[in-house]
Amino acid sequence: MSDPKPARRVIRRNESAQLQHWFATCPRGLESLLAEDIAAAGGQEIVSTHGGVGFVGNKEVGYRLNLHSRIATRVLCRLASADFSSEQDIYRLAYDVAWSQCFDVSRSIRVYVTAVRSPFKSLEYITLKTKDAVCDRFRADVGRRPDVNTAAPDVRIHLFLADGKATLYVDTSGEPLWMRGQKIAKVAAPLKENLAAGILRLTGWTPAQPLLDPMCGSGTFLLEAAGMALGDAPGLARDMKDFGFTRLTDYDPALWKRLCMEAAEQRTMADRLAIWGSDNDDDAVARAQQNLAHAGLDDLIEIRHADLLDIDPPVTSGVLVTNPPYGERLGEAEALAAFYPKLGDALKQRFAGWTCWFLSADANLPKRIGLQPKRKIPLWNGNLECRLYGFDIVSGQHR
Ligand SMILES: C[S@@+](CC[C@H](N)C(=O)[O-])C[C@H]1O[C@@H](n2cnc3c(N)ncnc32)[C@H](O)[C@@H]1O
Repeated sequence: MSDPKPARRVIRRNESAQLQHWFATCPRGLESLLAEDIAAAGGQEIVSTHGGVGFVGNKEVGYRLNLHSRIATRVLCRLASADFSSEQDIYRLAYDVAWSQCFDVSRSIRVYVTAVRSPFKSLEYITLKTKDAVCDRFRADVGRRPDVNTAAPDVRIHLFLADGKATLYVDTSGEPLWMRGQKIAKVAAPLKENLAAGILRLTGWTPAQPLLDPMCGSGTFLLEAAGMALGDAPGLARDMKDFGFTRLTDYDPALWKRLCMEAAEQRTMADRLAIWGSDNDDDAVARAQQNLAHAGLDDLIEIRHADLLDIDPPVTSGVLVTNPPYGERLGEAEALAAFYPKLGDALKQRFAGWTCWFLSADANLPKRIGLQPKRKIPLWNGNLECRLYGFDIVSGQHR
């Protein structure tokens, strides 16, 4: 699923008995890639919406997605859904779920509410109502209620409100899936791993092509690209306790073990990867190196300290992908305004033969660097609306 073109997996007839409805979330702009991952995991009836994709599948499909998708943020399993018009409807929806069959009362919980055009004044109150319903139902069924833990809950319960419909999900991912357990050293504005992986796929990069991130920060693009090149399942490096499904009553350790073993067998070996990183900040270079070493990739990828304006490409053609500083602070914005024309010149002079991709929130980036983009792809980095700009650099562009 992490491969650029994931293969579709077909659910066998005898597996379909326990089909469930799921919803997987992802950074906005990556829904079509997530739908590909879901199809590759064996999901059916796939429907994309803003920020996520609904589908049908059995538990194995849910586990596969948690293990293999580089794009998903969370994989949620649907428990109940109904039209609503009042707070009491929400309470009733949550009370009607047989929670004690879903997880043990000793597990701590947290309720998350997301709403599109909510008719309610306070979503905090709705969160409280939902939590009360879960606890009341537990008390009625087993005589005790679960504790609430907002910092590190065992079980995350999600309520979605949209178009007069309320849907309750239990979160099978737990910690968000972009937390791969790989990045131990962070920089100021790191990309989330699933956004970086999605960008790599949107550029059309394949592991057969050279890749360069000349503003690599903590090395997110490098780590994701290496994982894709080696056929690594991103969930394999995560701590088991980070997965929410391990705390649900229907957890099937044998199934999970089999999927992990199959995934480990698919991993390929390499002595060297055609992936390079650089950054003009010593601290960022050290952190990226630390992260690659932690992932066992430091022998495969070269990182060095260099200014993007000074570097020569490592080979004659390839894919450059990077996210420059956002320039949100004043000094940064001024420095960037001066930097971009120089960047355009450096690309035209030295990167003929390369396709260069920049993730930026700056709508004027193409004008500033003086190049016509061949692609402009809208993407969201959290709440920040961005574009992924793609430029083909051809020789003779520099006058
Ligand atoms: C937004 S951060 C990149 C974050 C990175 N993608 C990650 O996930 O950690 C931008 C990086 O560009 C680097 N940078 C800024 N100007 C540069 C230049 N002229 N040459 C090389 N790197 C530069 C900064 O040091 C910073 O690490």
